[in-house]
Amino acid sequence: MLIKQEWKDKGYVDEPIPEGTDLKAEIRRMASEKNAVIMAHYYVDGEIQDIADFVGDSLALAQQAAKTDAQIIVMCGVHFMGETNKILCPDKTVLVPDLNATCSLAESCEAQAFEDFVKSHPDHTVISYVNTTAATKAVTDVVVTSGNARQIVESFPKDEKIIFAPDQNLGGYINSITGRSMLLWNGACHVHEKFSLEKILNLKAAHPQAKILVHPECKGPVVKVADKVGSTAALLKFAIEDDATEFIVATESGILHEMQKRCPQKTFIPAPPNDSTCACNECNYMKLVTMQKLYNCLKYEWPQVEVDPQIAEKAIRPINRMLEISARLGL
Ligand code: 13P
Ligand code: SF4
Repeated sequence: MLIKQEWKDKGYVDEPIPEGTDLKAEIRRMASEKNAVIMAHYYVDGEIQDIADFVGDSLALAQQAAKTDAQIIVMCGVHFMGETNKILCPDKTVLVPDLNATCSLAESCEAQAFEDFVKSHPDHTVISYVNTTAATKAVTDVVVTSGNARQIVESFPKDEKIIFAPDQNLGGYINSITGRSMLLWNGACHVHEKFSLEKILNLKAAHPQAKILVHPECKGPVVKVADKVGSTAALLKFAIEDDATEFIVATESGILHEMQKRCPQKTFIPAPPNDSTCACNECNYMKLVTMQKLYNCLKYEWPQVEVDPQIAEKAIRPINRMLEISARLGL
């Protein structure tokens, strides 16, 4: 199908949807006709999570991509997630509804600058968070997600010299719970670094029974007041299994959709950011994925994620290493 230059410039198919289209039914029809699997991260809009075949955290999405037999993977999330899928499944078509959906962490770690840093520490093992570009993964020894970072770091000897990139908050948290002193790259997530400790404590005073759920990309003082620190999937599991009926949630607010769905009788309060004039607890990259863009990307099978084969050849090693260690540890 012809992809207009205007769409290439925009990074997504900007085609009006014919009036009266049942978007959900059409998306599902195209997915089954084209043997496509729709995957979604917990941070995209609830209606997209509801229509997906699989919803998960970064680790589960990578694990799922590695074993899918669908011919097309539609990754409703950010670009690095599509890249990871493409690296794992080079023969499949990987679509992301909007190529502009990047990630502040991935952007904070420019590959050449990172490679120079790595070269200046030749005796260090390089551990990179999955929230990185394929080019950064290509100069990495092992990839981690927030769901397995602790266990993977601990799988190395205590005196192993380690570079951890790009999230300084996640790296600092892992240092604090493992007693390591990994060298940290100074990246941060524009959503997680903005949660206000003061406002969380005010909320806690107003809801003393509420438990505080915190993603480890948040700053140290916010992590310190948490009842549970974990990946999106770990926070969801805690909310389902814990006896508390109220939770203050310090991560991107999209996760509240699945929490509320799985626990309709419990109350979930999104933690407020410092700046109350913006919806800063929303990831503006994840929110670029809309039903209209999902419909159009399935219809036109574009935008496709491509990874330079030379980079992919190097980047697959640390991703596979992560998947192998996770499988061995039952994660
Ligand atoms: P999870 O690995 O917890 O899904 O987090 C991904 C992410 O982008 C957090 O900001
Ligand atoms: Fe990246 Fe932060 Fe968005 Fe997660 S929430 S995808 S870390 S910008």
